[in-house]
Amino acid sequence: MKTKSKKIVIGNMKMHGSLDFNESYFKSLKQKLSLFNELSITLCVPYPYLFQAQKILMGSNIHWGCQNVAKELEGPFTGEVSASMIKDFQCELVIVGHSERNTAYCESDENIAEKFNMIKKNNMTPLLCVGENLIEREAGIMEKVVSEQIKTILDLYGQDIFKGSIIAYEPIWAIGSDSAASPEQIEKMCEFIKQLIYSNVTDNDDVNIVYGGSVNAKNAVQLCEINGVDGILMGRASLDVNEFYEICNSIHKI
Ligand code: 13P
Repeated sequence: MKTKSKKIVIGNMKMHGSLDFNESYFKSLKQKLSLFNELSITLCVPYPYLFQAQKILMGSNIHWGCQNVAKELEGPFTGEVSASMIKDFQCELVIVGHSERNTAYCESDENIAEKFNMIKKNNMTPLLCVGENLIEREAGIMEKVVSEQIKTILDLYGQDIFKGSIIAYEPIWAIGSDSAASPEQIEKMCEFIKQLIYSNVTDNDDVNIVYGGSVNAKNAVQLCEINGVDGILMGRASLDVNEFYEICNSIHKI
């Protein structure tokens, strides 16, 4: 699903939706976004709605994904959902390491690395979220924080694991807030991430970086034009079909 030339647009529904809401939401997205073949569009849905997403979005230019996955493939892990289970519904992309999970469920970098590996092993695209909180930014240690998040994966699985993956720079302080990070902050971090990955990955063209955190129809173009930014990851804006459309419409020619 990943192509270097296409801008990447990923919607994260988080814990929103219902059978009723999704029925018209998925159908409207399918219809309204059908114009944007120059974009790589994915919607990450809650697990219970994977089948519904598959049924409605099948044959459209919108891919569907999940927001988490178990690090084990099978076994006595109550409440967990495995990579092979979501693969049964043709899930193509999985978010891993989202800060909302790390904060609420204390996910360690090792856990996240194991999930990343599991997603790759099952031929899906991992979307690794990295980013610092406000205290870390104010202390000036954001690059150290992000580097630790990425290095755990590199140390455990080696450089090739990043081929074909997506990294989302999502500063925690910009998520669900009023404003996105500044273009300077984003460009600097993307450059840092690319250097960190590129010095370790032989085929360095094969890792994409997207930005997430208060993306909306007003700032999408500016964000997508930042050097090193291959696309966007959005939360709230993805739940509004018109805003989703406006965002795609504004960036599809970049
Ligand atoms: P918002 O776009 O609502 O700030 O959420 C960003 C996010 O967490 C996407 O994963």
